[in-house]
Amino acid sequence: MKEKVVLASSLCKQYQIGDLTIQALRNLDIEVEKGEFISIHGQSGAGKTTLLNLIGGLDKPTSGNVVVFGHDLGTYDEDFLATFRCAYVGFVFQSYNLISTLTAFENVAFAVELAGWPRERIQSRSENLLKLVGLEHRADHFPAQLSGGEQQRVAFARALANNPPLILADEPTGNLDVKTGLEIVHIIARMKVEGKTVIVATHDKRILELANRRFKLHEGRIIESDE
Ligand SMILES: Nc1ncnc2c1ncn2[C@@H]1O[C@H](COP(=O)(O)OP(=O)(O)O)[C@@H](O)[C@H]1O
Ligand SMILES: [Mg+2]
Repeated sequence: MKEKVVLASSLCKQYQIGDLTIQALRNLDIEVEKGEFISIHGQSGAGKTTLLNLIGGLDKPTSGNVVVFGHDLGTYDEDFLATFRCAYVGFVFQSYNLISTLTAFENVAFAVELAGWPRERIQSRSENLLKLVGLEHRADHFPAQLSGGEQQRVAFARALANNPPLILADEPTGNLDVKTGLEIVHIIARMKVEGKTVIVATHDKRILELANRRFKLHEGRIIESDE
């Protein structure tokens, strides 16, 4: 039997805004095995980002369980979750989320540093990551000097800093035009070949085609999957 990377059962997430309770996830069950490439689609507000946040330990469930690499994430405090994220998860967001005051190189080096690489290897590791996404020639440029597609490639380099076994990407081509998005699709395709476990929220047909399994979320429930 293959190793279970994600095991979510009866997963519920509610947000409270004043008197209003929003049911973002409703009794959701999902299992993901090592090396799988999973896509999640569904209209805006369906719960895609919430689900990725829970799987990545950025937020906690209201009820139910989300067990990732054997850790039942709802039971841990923020310190442990930070350690967990650093060890296991690379995040990529729709809006890149680079640090605007750091260059492309520094954005990546910062993540490598956080991941605890030995000092003398931070430089070469960061250079190699930028090379991997084809941006070694833009190392000294700040995010504002890079196109959206280039910023997202830096974000992927950063996500890979600690060679995490799980990559979570939230609409990574959502802000990019079709042609620019293609470079991102290539990077994601390479992760699949390398055997990383990848979970992507996306509507991009090119990414959906790469997926081993596709899930559709609707109002916090999985309503369709083509297993
Ligand atoms: N921090 C939050 N506070 C309150 N409501 C939220 C918050 N984040 C998401 N929601 C709500 O939860 C639901 C699911 O949102 P989200 O997970 O962002 O969906 P998607 O990523 O599919 O667009 C939506 O109704 C959204 O408005
Ligand atoms: Mg979202």
